[in-house]
Amino acid sequence: MSGDSFGKLFKVNNWGESHGKAIGVVVEGCPAGLELSETDIQPFLDKRRPGQSAITTRRDEKDQVKILSGTVDGITTGTPISLMIENQDQKSKDYSEMAKIFRPSHADFTYQKKYGIRDVAGGGRSSARITAGHVAAGAIAQKILAKALGTDIVGYVKSVNDLVLAMPSEQVDVSLIEQTAVRCPDLALAEKMIKRIEAARKNGDSLGGVVECRINSVPIGLGEPVFDKLEADLAKAMLAINASKGFEIGSGFAGTLETGTSHNDIFINQDGKVKTKTNSSGGTLGGISNGMPIVFRVAFKPTPTIIKEQATVNLAGDETVFHGRGRHDPCVLPRAVPIVEAMAALVLCDHFLRFRAYKGLFDIN
Ligand SMILES: Cc1cc2nc3c(=O)[nH]c(=O)nc-3n(C[C@H](O)[C@H](O)[C@H](O)COP(=O)(O)O)c2cc1C
Repeated sequence: MSGDSFGKLFKVNNWGESHGKAIGVVVEGCPAGLELSETDIQPFLDKRRPGQSAITTRRDEKDQVKILSGTVDGITTGTPISLMIENQDQKSKDYSEMAKIFRPSHADFTYQKKYGIRDVAGGGRSSARITAGHVAAGAIAQKILAKALGTDIVGYVKSVNDLVLAMPSEQVDVSLIEQTAVRCPDLALAEKMIKRIEAARKNGDSLGGVVECRINSVPIGLGEPVFDKLEADLAKAMLAINASKGFEIGSGFAGTLETGTSHNDIFINQDGKVKTKTNSSGGTLGGISNGMPIVFRVAFKPTPTIIKEQATVNLAGDETVFHGRGRHDPCVLPRAVPIVEAMAALVLCDHFLRFRAYKGLFDIN
């Protein structure tokens, strides 16, 4: 009943709170025989960790992952893989004031009303800190997909506020993504984004934007209509990420401005391989991958905690004032990139294993 697990065959169970002893995931369904050590997972966590640049939160967490189970001599055994990240930078400050009020646009209000109790320190389970578990599990999924299918998943920042990367995903030079702290593959635009985020931070304010993700080398056939369509599961995965507010695949909302004539993806036969000339559909048809790259976008709102006074209400419902303080991301976009990639990997890996289950049946006789 609880919403702490994700996936059907490649299943992730997420646990922990922001300022508890540790956070982590238990991954069920990882096939036996995969080489796996902490060094396969740590680089992904380093891309998500706080304190990585001047435009992210200055909280300094190293996010060192430990594999507690599911491997022998660095090889997966087909049993549950437990991954743990100890929390280090939890400041034992006084949360009594925070406990009495609701931060605007954060999860305090709904957690309090739903459960009647909430872990106030660092936002407890509603904190984006728990997405470190998504990224750790996603690293395993990405390894399986790369090894079995050659699939590669690349996310980058498409926009920050009204600064938008105009280039289509097939033209992106992926080698540029990690060259700037903002993870936008246009270096001149990235500089502008960084300046905009720095200015927002100086004003005690925050900004939102869009992450785009392109997945190459996806076989035809992943996705289970009608309710577990590939794009439906991707949408769920993306909207489960903290602060996400929108999902679109392929032409998305802009496609509504086209006609069928320009929007339809025409089939062609290129050297014996059926493809489509364009990719308005974003890599799925009828909820099943069609062999074209999967391209989707995720919108993130401006970080809710801003370093300003804002009107709010207290536990009793009386109007009061909230003084935002502490070390917050002025824009979640750069750190959201590896989370988007990880969630995409979890969806694809789960669907790949489900596809293989059917394939196995068909192969008998
Ligand atoms: C990578 C990342 C970092 C975040 N950092 C912060 C932060 O420093 N401060 C904050 O108030 N919210 C931050 N958030 C957003 C909150 O976690 C989120 O807005 C909150 O849990 C409420 O959930 P909702 O926005 O999905 O409704 C971050 C989100 C992400 C994805």
